Amino acid sequence: METRVCLITPESLAWAKEIIEKGGVVAMPTETVYGLGSSAFNDAAVRKIFEVKGRPNNNPLIAHVHETYDLSQIIDYDPPYAQKLRAAFLPGPLTLVYPSKGKVSPFVSCGLDTLAIRVPAHAGARAFLKKVGVPIVAPSANISRHVSPTSAQHVLDDFDGKIPLILDGGECTGGIESTVCDCTGEYPVILRPGLITREMIEKVVGRCDEYAPDLENPQQVKSPGMLYKHYAPRCKTLLFSQKNVEQAILRYVKESQENKGVAVLCEEKWISEFEKIGAKCLNLGKNQAEMASRLYKLLREAERFCDTLIVVEPQESDGIMTGVLNRLRKACTSQDV
Ligand code: TXA
Ligand code: MG
Repeated sequence: METRVCLITPESLAWAKEIIEKGGVVAMPTETVYGLGSSAFNDAAVRKIFEVKGRPNNNPLIAHVHETYDLSQIIDYDPPYAQKLRAAFLPGPLTLVYPSKGKVSPFVSCGLDTLAIRVPAHAGARAFLKKVGVPIVAPSANISRHVSPTSAQHVLDDFDGKIPLILDGGECTGGIESTVCDCTGEYPVILRPGLITREMIEKVVGRCDEYAPDLENPQQVKSPGMLYKHYAPRCKTLLFSQKNVEQAILRYVKESQENKGVAVLCEEKWISEFEKIGAKCLNLGKNQAEMASRLYKLLREAERFCDTLIVVEPQESDGIMTGVLNRLRKACTSQDV
C-alpha cells in the first residue's frame, strides 16, 4: 500500500472521510501528538488499529469527537463536574473517561464499562472530525511502545506502506499526550498526567486526585496503558537525576570511548557543562512548555544516530513536568535517579 502525506484541504478531507467510511485508518494531527484514527462504530476498523500498531488488546482507545458532537449518544452519565471541565478546557488536551456501555464498538474500551473521550483543539483535527461526523478512535500514531509522533514525518517513519493517508497538520505544539481523567466517581481522578494539570483541574472543580496504580495487581489497574513500557527510543537510554550530573558526565566519557553514537539530552542550563567535554547535546529547553513540546522530537532524533543516550532529568517536577517526567522515566532503559 502506498502511504500519502497530504496537507489538510477540502480534497484530502473528502478522501479521509471516504477511507473512514470504508473502515480504513487515517493518521491525523492533534495539538498533543499525531493519532491513528478509525471509526469507533466499526468493529473491524477498531481492530485494525490494534493490529497496525501492534497494541496489546487490553489497552483501551480514546474516542475523538468535534466539539459540536452530542455526547449523550455515546455516554451513559455526565457528572456535573465533567460539564465544568469541558467548559473550562475543551477543545483541548484533556481526555475524560465516562460511564458508557455498548454505545461504540466493544473493542474500543476492551471490555471496560467506560469510554474515554477527547475533543482536540488542533484546527486540522477539528476539520477532520467535523467532516467525518463520527467518533474517531485514535491512539498515538506510533508502533506500540515506540516514541509518540509529533510530526507527519514521524508517523511516516513508523507506518509507511501500512496506512493509506497521513493528514499533515504541521508539528504538534503540545508535545505530550492529553491528560486522562476518570469521571466515573464523585470527583475527577487523573489516570495519566499531561498538559492540563491537577492544579488547573482543582481550580475548576475543587478536588482532583492522582491515581497510583497497584502494579502488584495489574487486573485492577484503571488505565491499562500505565502498565506498559512506553515512548522508548531505539537506543540505550540512561537517566540521571540532577544530583548525579557528575556521574552522567563520567558515563558519557566511558560510553564515548566504547561507542561512536553517544549524546546527551538535558535542559538548557546543563548544556555548557557537557559541551566542555565535547559532548553532542540535545537541548530540551529552558521552560516547561518548551520541554514538553521538544521531548519526543529529540528522542526520535537521538535514536537515529545514538547507541547510547545519556539523559539528565529536568529539575522541576510540578505543573506539566509531572507529565514530562512520567514519559521520560518510561522511555529510559535504566535509571540512576
Ligand atoms: O493526546 C492524546 O491523548 C493522544 C492523541 C492522539 O489524542 N492519544 C493517545 O492515545 O495518547 P493512546 O492510545 O496512546 O493513550 C490512551 C490512554 C492509554 O493510557 C489508555 O489506557 C487510556 O488512555 N484509556 C483509554 N480508554 C480508557 C478507559 N476507558 N479507561 C481508562 N483509561 C483509558
Ligand atoms: Mg500512546
